[in-house]
Amino acid sequence: MKNNSKSGLKNGGIMRLDRFFSSVGQLTRSECGVAVKKGRITVNGEIVKTASVKILPCKDEVTLDGETVVWQEYYYLMLNKPSGYISSTENSENTVMKLLPEKYSRAGCFPCGRLDIDTVGLLLITNDGDTAHRLLSPKKHALKSYRFRCSVPIGSDEIYALENGIDLGDFVTLPAKTEMITPTEGIISVTEGKFHQIKRMLFAVGSKIEFLERISFGGLELDEKLDRGEWRELTDDEISVLKEA
Ligand code: URA
Repeated sequence: MKNNSKSGLKNGGIMRLDRFFSSVGQLTRSECGVAVKKGRITVNGEIVKTASVKILPCKDEVTLDGETVVWQEYYYLMLNKPSGYISSTENSENTVMKLLPEKYSRAGCFPCGRLDIDTVGLLLITNDGDTAHRLLSPKKHALKSYRFRCSVPIGSDEIYALENGIDLGDFVTLPAKTEMITPTEGIISVTEGKFHQIKRMLFAVGSKIEFLERISFGGLELDEKLDRGEWRELTDDEISVLKEA
């Protein structure tokens, strides 16, 4: 069996066949049981008789209907989130998970952090809980950059306030690098990820966000070739960048 290099293989030891299939997102455990009964699954060339058989995912060759099933423990996807979708795994029609093939939900993938329903752009989706936790930890200060358009021009006083911390009542923001491209359009970079943070910051300096797009997160850049709603798996280099962020 092929050992995919994107896998951390931390738990790459022995596991049950049905768990293997649910981990790669190919079959649920009960679907695996049914497939076994129908003789659709082989391990190292032998038709399997029970879904509880133990295998070594990085070594044993598993097939389903004659096709090799590639072992991959972790998935890392970049989604160009469109407006109108919520960053959640809830079972509702408009969650970002609905934009991806079902295998990723089955493999336990989830959005790493939240973008508001009307915010677009870079959203990382993974089933690597440790990396997600690290990227989202307030102590780690992972950098996030957003392109924005707002209703009222931002001048030097407002940039000064954004860059020196704003008291939002419940907390004072950390310095946010702000670069204006036109008086009402710019790029803002923050190392925090509080609820509605950018909208609240711009509101606090007398403006209002009309458009918000995340363009980078933890060293990962939004692939401009992806249209809204499109996604792709990260490259090995991108995964390394995230892990080192
Ligand atoms: N800040 C916001 O206000 N909204 C987002 O979706 C992300 C950051």
